[in-house]
Amino acid sequence: MHVRVGILTVSDRAASGTYEDESGPLISGIINRRSGWRISRQAIVPDEIDDIVTIITSWCHEGLDLILTTGGTGFAPRDVTPEATLKVIEKLTPGISEALRQESLKITPHAMLSRAVAGIRQGTLIINLPGNPKAVKENLDVLMLVLPHALEQLKDEGGTETTHRLV
Ligand code: MTE
Repeated sequence: MHVRVGILTVSDRAASGTYEDESGPLISGIINRRSGWRISRQAIVPDEIDDIVTIITSWCHEGLDLILTTGGTGFAPRDVTPEATLKVIEKLTPGISEALRQESLKITPHAMLSRAVAGIRQGTLIINLPGNPKAVKENLDVLMLVLPHALEQLKDEGGTETTHRLV
């Protein structure tokens, strides 16, 4: 399956160069190794709703299949990634964020502090991940269980047919 992925790091400090972005490259490494999908776009933006909305919207317009964001989902005053994401998604996919929190809760109670959301805009699936590299890896372990099937359905490459057979 040909999948085009965008990875967006949302962090004031990474955007200003105060510290190096670890989570963006970590996500692209994991995605590459486990699925072979192409990382088409990668960017770092500060914790600003307008910046996040602009870049996600343009990547959707370009026809990316999957956008993974990292960071800005917690309780800090500057954390606005879920609010920006909710502005652009047309269909919520709550099962994804519920599962990520549920599985993460088995590892740390801090998972309760993630306000991450997920959803679809046209043909693009957009998923918020936390910012911490350890959390990113743990979340991707769960996410990779369903992503191939989710993207197949989204691209309408057999998803509906399978459903019809089951009914
Ligand atoms: N999920 C997993 N799997 N492992 C973690 O260590 N950390 C949590 C949570 N989700 C964590 C996790 C913490 S400490 C916070 S504050 C929230 O994600 C939000 O993280 P963010 O503000 O970096 O997006």
